[in-house]
Amino acid sequence: MNAPTASSLLDITPFAARRQRLLTRMAEAGGGVAILPTAPEVARNRDTHYPYRHDSYFYYLSGFREPGAVLVLVAGETPKQILFCREKDEEREIWDGFRYGPDAAREVFGFDEAWTLGEFDRRLAELLANQPLMWFSLGHDADWDARITRGLNAVRANARTGIVPPHSVRDLRAELDEMRLVKDAYEIDIMRRAGRISAEAHCRAMRATRPGCHEYEIEAELLHHFRRNGSQFPAYTSIVAAGANACILHYVENDQRIADGDLVLIDAGCELDGYASDITRSFPANGRFSGPQRAVYELVLAAQHAARATIRPGAHWNAPHEAAVKVLAQGMLDLKLLNGSLDAVLENGDYRRFYMHRTGHWLGMDVHDAGEYKLGGEWRPLEPGMVLTVEPGCYIRPAADVPETFWNIGIRIEDDALVTADGCEYLTEGVPREAADIEALMRDAHAA
Ligand code: GLY
Ligand code: MN
Ligand code: MN
Repeated sequence: MNAPTASSLLDITPFAARRQRLLTRMAEAGGGVAILPTAPEVARNRDTHYPYRHDSYFYYLSGFREPGAVLVLVAGETPKQILFCREKDEEREIWDGFRYGPDAAREVFGFDEAWTLGEFDRRLAELLANQPLMWFSLGHDADWDARITRGLNAVRANARTGIVPPHSVRDLRAELDEMRLVKDAYEIDIMRRAGRISAEAHCRAMRATRPGCHEYEIEAELLHHFRRNGSQFPAYTSIVAAGANACILHYVENDQRIADGDLVLIDAGCELDGYASDITRSFPANGRFSGPQRAVYELVLAAQHAARATIRPGAHWNAPHEAAVKVLAQGMLDLKLLNGSLDAVLENGDYRRFYMHRTGHWLGMDVHDAGEYKLGGEWRPLEPGMVLTVEPGCYIRPAADVPETFWNIGIRIEDDALVTADGCEYLTEGVPREAADIEALMRDAHAA
């Protein structure tokens, strides 16, 4: 196989720019050295591993997807960007495929230096010596914590020569969380494409659904479309939940037969070049919403419209949730799922019986992406470039005090919203959302 080059794989400019930004932020905070390992490979059994997925923070700064790598950034007057990675090994490459090795990695990914991972421990002590701060995220990987501790102790062993280790540790992830929260143009372009592929996959899944087929057959349609379009993985385990299964929020068995009259809830999104998408649609397996299904569907859709309408720069994070809850709670009263006044239901939280999750989360490299939701105890204001999901739902389990006609209806509608200069844009417009549009798509599919 030919060695991949930077130009054949990715544009390294945004990655280099992010490293530069982090170095500036570190310098402003007192300088020091940042250490960021990628994710480990995880054995599934014997000599078989789970599909490898890089660490998001590491990838954000490096663009480097191989396992066995560490990024080190030295801030200050002579900043330095160093990659440690696996060495070239023609024998291993016959079995496991191409690896860059330090020389090519330095060249292609734009580092000042690159060394083999075997060099890391020895060089770590030198890198930490006399640095004012160490930027590292403790408590995520015991092996890495121990390795860093050994490095610090190696520096301390030289105390009599006047060499000292960093006097304090800063949380590197916390610094990167803030950067990751606002997406750059490169990221938005990938997220747009990821959203488009996932929307097409949902359309394909809707078209393929018939009463009598199994949930896993529909899951296969989604995965087929993701992979056919270059997505490396699903961003999370796809949920294909028919009938009562739609009331299980994290249902992933996907092994049941879909019955005539069932609603099918699909929550699925692809990961493309390291970025997640996250879409949910709920639709009737036979192509026609029943009366009660449509009533609940319209309620959830109205909640989503209300939530979306709040999203703009300066609005606070919780505004979409508050708007969705208000609509849902009023609808639950109108449908006689709840009793009392709107104010009382909002105050006492009775609506949580049928809507027990929040209306969204940050979206980016991780499906539940990095970033704080509050600043100084207050919901943080939205800014252009942030991406969040908008995903109200309503889940009605059988109960004596609930009209039977609504039993086992579980509905969620989820789209991915990019905050723009004056509002928001859905990255997932390509899959119908209005009930009539869903029915039209399925009518066409069933007629074909
Ligand atoms: N698919 C995960 C979520 O919607 O949060
Ligand atoms: Mn979501
Ligand atoms: Mn989802």
